[in-house]
Amino acid sequence: MKRRLIVFTVLASSFIAVQADEKVVSITLPAETAVYREAPGVELVKGHCITCHSAEYVNTQPPMPRKFWEGSVKKMKEKFGAPIADNIAPMLADYLTAAYGVKDAGGK
Ligand code: HEC
Repeated sequence: MKRRLIVFTVLASSFIAVQADEKVVSITLPAETAVYREAPGVELVKGHCITCHSAEYVNTQPPMPRKFWEGSVKKMKEKFGAPIADNIAPMLADYLTAAYGVKDAGGK
């Protein structure tokens, strides 16, 4: 009985030590590519675009004009079945163009 108690105590204290250690470990995350950039409409995009894949799919695209993003939203909806209402689609395209659009072309 006494031995068991000792074993338990040793295990418990090493467990606690590990727990305590973890609190001071700092981790450096890589540059954030898995989040949508801040721009008006980002919440809308988060609500519609993170159910199937991460923001990386968008982040890794080169800057593209609005036409591309409209097509992208349409593709997600029609080809992959993303639940996007007709009145929401243009707002998503607005955001994508603002945040990931071609610069100096007005995104058009
Ligand atoms: C119903 C699931 C679903 C939702 C919701 C969804 N996508 Fe996708 N998306 C996919 C699939 C499936 C692919 C293709 C993955 C592959 O080819 O490996 C994809 C790929 C992409 C790509 C990569 C390029 C391409 O056309 O294949 C982009 C950009 C993209 N999605 C953007 C979006 C945006 C923006 C939204 C929100 C408006 C969104 N997705 C919402 C399923 C979805």
